Amino acid sequence: MSGSESVFLKAVRREPTPCTPIWLMRQAGRYLPEYRAMRARHSFLELCRNPDAAAEVTLQPVERLGVDAAILFADILLLLEPLGVGLEFAKGEGPVIHRPVRTAADVARLAPIDVDAAVPFVFETVRRARRALAGRVPLIGFAGAPFTVASYLVEGGASREFLHTKRLMYDEPEAWHRLMDLLADATARYLNGQIAAGAEAVQLFDSWVGALGPDDYRAYVLPHSRAVMKAVTGAPVIHFGTGTAALLPLMREAGGEVIGLDWRVDLDAGWRAVGLDVAVQGNLDPAVLLASPAIIRERARAVLERAAGRPGHVFNLGHGVHQATPVEHVKALVDIVHELSAR
Ligand code: CP3
Repeated sequence: MSGSESVFLKAVRREPTPCTPIWLMRQAGRYLPEYRAMRARHSFLELCRNPDAAAEVTLQPVERLGVDAAILFADILLLLEPLGVGLEFAKGEGPVIHRPVRTAADVARLAPIDVDAAVPFVFETVRRARRALAGRVPLIGFAGAPFTVASYLVEGGASREFLHTKRLMYDEPEAWHRLMDLLADATARYLNGQIAAGAEAVQLFDSWVGALGPDDYRAYVLPHSRAVMKAVTGAPVIHFGTGTAALLPLMREAGGEVIGLDWRVDLDAGWRAVGLDVAVQGNLDPAVLLASPAIIRERARAVLERAAGRPGHVFNLGHGVHQATPVEHVKALVDIVHELSAR
């Protein structure tokens, strides 16, 4: 059920629900046979740019799994295309940026992002997905947080150590803050555009922010993430990161109606760290979905026990579904969470 009656939106508002809602990051992806069938005919970027196809992929996990929310099918890096940095989703490698932004001079050359011109197809996908959902479950929009998007832009792709990113941050802080301002501004417009098109909640993915210690988070990231969340209006924000055990109180300070927790922190300890007066989302290790349904049940139960039936828990993984995951295991998890949390 969509609108204010949905279990997902009630949990986001910390209202009591008949059971704990569940959706999964990367619920639309390569572990799903029907997604792989679409990908056999279209490249990833073609899928994102085609609102009919992207809306269809958005609905695939809702139909197959019975999750309590849909998440827009798109990508956090689409917003970077108009910067002319040579974004490509290379086969088997993930995203590549052919002309990374590494220095103050590179940052100075960037023009502000005209969001409406850059990603009209994303807003159209939101409208079509919302129409196709017809009120069954709410639609979540999303964007990358400024730090995580900047890390791709500066590194030129995925990274383990974020050395170029940290070098820019430490050595050329003015350029860093200019870059983060530019991204924060575009991100807020991108999220508000999705909300205007029909997204009922939005998630801000700061997936790699756990690479930073608390002092660096406070100085180089928090003001920019906060600016995004202050500018977003009309829908609740889920503020997500991984490896964030030491950053959780600062992430709460930056904002969000819901704070995402990964599996490296126990859910109850993470919830206390952000404060019991805010909702949380998480936090099963995605690797558990490779194990047998009996183990999945045991581990889902452990997460629910740590949530202790307190209103304001949205069940999710601590990060996205891995592509090697058997689809029956994902379906089993959704059913298990609904069954064990029924009250
Ligand atoms: O189901 C959903 O969660 C919605 C769709 C979604 C995608 N990307 C589709 C996608 C979402 C929410 C994202 C966000 C995203 N994109 C993040 C933040 C979430 C996270 O995982 O931390 C990040 C870091 C990106 C950047 C990105 N895009 C990476 C690292 C990759 C490669 C990952 C991989 O599995 O190869 C992508 C490509 C991508 N985005 C795919 C999908 C389904 C795989 C593309 C394919 O079909 O080949």
